[in-house]
Amino acid sequence: MSSSGAELDPAARLLDLAIVGGTVVLPSGAVSTNVGIADGVIAAIGTEPMQARHSLDAAGMLVLPGGLDSHCHLDQQPWEGRSSADDFRSGTLSALCGGNTSIIPFAMQMRGQSLRAIVADYHQRARKAHIDYAFHLVIGDPTREVLEHELPELIEQGCTSIKLFLTYEGLKLDDYEFLSVLEIARRHGLMIMVHAENDACIRWLTERLLAQRKTQLRYHVAAHPAVGEREATYRAIALAELIETPILIVHVSSATVVDEIRRAQARGLPVYAETCPQYLFLCAEDIDTGDLSGAKCVCTPPPRERANQPAMWQGILDGTLSVFSSDHSPFNYTDKIAAGADTCFHRVPNGIPGIETRLPLLFSAACHDGRLSLERFVEITTTIPARLYGLYPRKGVIAVGSDADLAIWDPHQRRVIRNELLHHAVDYTPYEGMSVQGWPITTISRGEIVFADGQPLSSAGRGRFLPCQRPFAARAQPGAHLSG
Ligand code: URP
Ligand code: ZN
Ligand code: ZN
Repeated sequence: MSSSGAELDPAARLLDLAIVGGTVVLPSGAVSTNVGIADGVIAAIGTEPMQARHSLDAAGMLVLPGGLDSHCHLDQQPWEGRSSADDFRSGTLSALCGGNTSIIPFAMQMRGQSLRAIVADYHQRARKAHIDYAFHLVIGDPTREVLEHELPELIEQGCTSIKLFLTYEGLKLDDYEFLSVLEIARRHGLMIMVHAENDACIRWLTERLLAQRKTQLRYHVAAHPAVGEREATYRAIALAELIETPILIVHVSSATVVDEIRRAQARGLPVYAETCPQYLFLCAEDIDTGDLSGAKCVCTPPPRERANQPAMWQGILDGTLSVFSSDHSPFNYTDKIAAGADTCFHRVPNGIPGIETRLPLLFSAACHDGRLSLERFVEITTTIPARLYGLYPRKGVIAVGSDADLAIWDPHQRRVIRNELLHHAVDYTPYEGMSVQGWPITTISRGEIVFADGQPLSSAGRGRFLPCQRPFAARAQPGAHLSG
């Protein structure tokens, strides 16, 4: 008997690859079964013997959908003068060695730039990818030309999610501009992601800190207070409520923001939220080291005080936070502290690496003690982002007909995270020395084994662009308050 309604009789067809005897994490639960692959697609799931050219013994192992890292930055244009340490070659290699088979980085438009040209350039940069990728758009200059001409073309090409910034010079939108993009998102059924920090708070606090010669790295946290993140989150939610369109708050860092989102969700608003490893496994003390090493953990929003971490976990456990991404934003430590002893908190490039360590860190911390079931682990790291960004069911699930994107995990393998063992091109990891239990040992992308026995087997350039569907049914009619 097939355990999941496989379409064909696997005994009757010669498959390319069979993964045999593992514990397979299906949406309905973890079951002991086999997975058969043909032509890059999952062709059969079932306990019956499978005829295949190659077979992988997964006894004692977990078979998960390949991870979808739905928030990472690769080879973005230099920002505040610093270049990304990872391009698509090194970034996607690192991703697949950490059990991922798809990523969604950002094609980022800044003031004065053409969004169309930025996306065309980004397609070129992505040609080195090892695994499949989609693009989120960043709209930093929502001119009429961009919103009425460039954006509709890009939507047709499969770019159906947009990140908007409420802070950062060259990227931030005012409320009027924010509303204009929300309206277009509603019309086309797009997902709007929001970097929610109050820009005036950051500038006002930074000026005062600098005037008092408070330049050490620990003041980065003071300049990006949780209350400013909460205010911007509330504002984004309120504006999206006005336009009646869904939004997703990215990289949520603090307990009060989780509360704000929980309140909105309790009111039935379509508000989604993401958090990242740095808010579970790092804290403000990791920036306040008294020396320059704290720069290794400088990102925005910053990791908060350690006492904040339980609330972040609670947000994951109760479903307020339903996406767990890396926000891999790779700057070398040497670039972060380029000014040496004169390094000032507001000049350190924001962002930390984590594309390879995202899944093992969460798995180790939460799956062994049962805090997160395997199904929930897969949902928040892979399936929910695939749904929210229009890639499901091609990606994000083990199901007949889906791409054969899988990660085989040894749940007992113990590792100490060391930068020299990772595959990114960044000169550090903020998780150096942390012990984890559980690591992906084999990664399969569209039926091809791209990582096995700790060795990457992939070739750069095999990754394909993934056009995304529209995540929400487009609603051409404006809301009642707009038509009245
Ligand atoms: O510090 C961060 N998170 N840098 C990456 C850019 C962003 O805002 O996601
Ligand atoms: Zn952001
Ligand atoms: Zn980011």
